[in-house]
Amino acid sequence: MKKSKNWKIINNSNIHQLFKEHPYNKKAKQVTDKTNKTLITAALPYANGKLHIGHIAGAYLPADTCTRFLRLKGENAIFICGSDENGVPITVSAAKENVTPQVIIDRYHEINKQAFAGMNINFDAYHRTSCSDHTEEAQKFFLELHQKGHVQRRTTEQLYCDSCERFLPDRYVEGTCYHCKSELAKGDQCETCGKMIDAIKLIKPKCAICGKTPEVKNTDHWFFRLDNFEKELKTFIEERPYFRDNVKRFSNGLLKQGLIARAITRDLSWGVPVPLEEAEGKVLYVWFDAPIGYISFTKKWAEENTNVNNNEWKDYWINDNSKTIHFIGKDNIVFHSIVWPAMLMSHGGYNLPHDVVANEFLNIKGAKTSTSRNYAVWIDEYLELFSADPLRYYLTAIAPEGSDSDFSWEDFQTRNNSELADNLGNFIQRNIAFANKYFDGIVPSAENLSEDAKNMIAEIEIAKAEIEKLLKKHQYKQALQRVMKLSQSGNQFLENEKPWSARKDNIKKCAMAVNTGLKVVEALSLVMAPFLPESSKTLREMLNLPALDFSAWNNNWQLKTGDKINKQTILFRKFDDDEIAVQAQKLE
Ligand code: 2FM
Ligand code: ZN
Repeated sequence: MKKSKNWKIINNSNIHQLFKEHPYNKKAKQVTDKTNKTLITAALPYANGKLHIGHIAGAYLPADTCTRFLRLKGENAIFICGSDENGVPITVSAAKENVTPQVIIDRYHEINKQAFAGMNINFDAYHRTSCSDHTEEAQKFFLELHQKGHVQRRTTEQLYCDSCERFLPDRYVEGTCYHCKSELAKGDQCETCGKMIDAIKLIKPKCAICGKTPEVKNTDHWFFRLDNFEKELKTFIEERPYFRDNVKRFSNGLLKQGLIARAITRDLSWGVPVPLEEAEGKVLYVWFDAPIGYISFTKKWAEENTNVNNNEWKDYWINDNSKTIHFIGKDNIVFHSIVWPAMLMSHGGYNLPHDVVANEFLNIKGAKTSTSRNYAVWIDEYLELFSADPLRYYLTAIAPEGSDSDFSWEDFQTRNNSELADNLGNFIQRNIAFANKYFDGIVPSAENLSEDAKNMIAEIEIAKAEIEKLLKKHQYKQALQRVMKLSQSGNQFLENEKPWSARKDNIKKCAMAVNTGLKVVEALSLVMAPFLPESSKTLREMLNLPALDFSAWNNNWQLKTGDKINKQTILFRKFDDDEIAVQAQKLE
């Protein structure tokens, strides 16, 4: 493979220049706005394959839900993501298809961007690590660490494939994990236990391209002294007792074992060139440059966004009043709770992560998703037939928050039909239909509230407060359950008050019930918004209420007696057995 890009190799004289330009060397915390900010990121997906439900449930959906909620609460939150386009995952895919890496990344960057948009996962920026701004940012970061003495050149033994005539970094080697004995280990990480791997120690290693057994040869690499940060990392974890258990467990386990220096360069022609003259032909390890994408993409967001000034990225990265929250899948824990914080500590100019929210894995009918065996539910295929919200609902309802969870099409159908359609949809539908049928679409007045109605009104506020509390703790599954419980209480309220029979002999009681029911419907349009944005929007249109904007969570309820509402439309359709069977069949 030839280098297809004209990468900028920085020689020693412009290293000096770079340092002069580097704002953090001045240690000034220039902040344009002192208000609290939250930077939300979701793991940058490799642009080497399509997105499936496991990706969405793991990182992107909870991150999107979080961002939507924070904005409703009136917090300045931005949601940054983009394609991870460097390194071995890309070149291995290109080699397997016999095309250039550029073909691979251009293809999947677009496909994945569309899939996210289709799921209403709305990033403020979705950039690419192959762009030159990112290259420069990553090179500057490397040099900063190098200058501080935390990067060291060492001669190392690496696996080399004689028949491919190349060193075999990371995923170029496959073999058996020496930690857990799984056969799904790659040269950098074991897919089963998630632990970092030293390729040379793999049991029965083989070249991922040609299958031959590699030999061991010497080559020079640059190592990041992760071991220098053991103490600081311990404090970092201790100071964040709110981390999820899986993140704490994993990080503490690694710290207990003791940290070692990690190679952050690779013998590869695709990626960010190591900005040192003596490192020609080497690139940065993809896991070194990728998280720096969180910074370079925030910069690009500020540059490209005409509503904010170019320096506004600093409000998120160089600001004691700002919090960074990384959403990831559990296989990324080590990089986000240990390696990346250590890189940031070494650099010294940027905020450390405030929270790392990691989900476990989502299986399909008890088995692990497998891209190579096409055992997955692909987002683009789902979106050809269904809308985003039913899947957003189901993936949050079964979110793998504390442990792995399980997807099945049959369960998706059951929960859609019984929970979204029969509980939530039906409650909304009934109230709006009653208002239209009995009161010409005008919100009727509520006099003499029954005990039930008083409890119902109180329940709205209780539910809202509890949902808020759960969302702040990143307990999305429980928060959604609480939304559904509010709707259930609403249904129960209607059953008790029976406005359909009251209207015949006690129109005031009927009006009171419909008025109260509509109040619950308005509340639902708000509390469901972070989870089901499209349905919430349609519902607000039905209620003739303005779209929810920034800080809407803090507003008073808006629906008033005498307001005109619109006709009901079906918010959630039921899925029939046949259409679900077709999908389930694809997994056989
Ligand atoms: O596991 C992955 O899919 C990686 N591409 C995630 C990278 S996250 C980050 F640090 F950029
Ligand atoms: Zn080979």
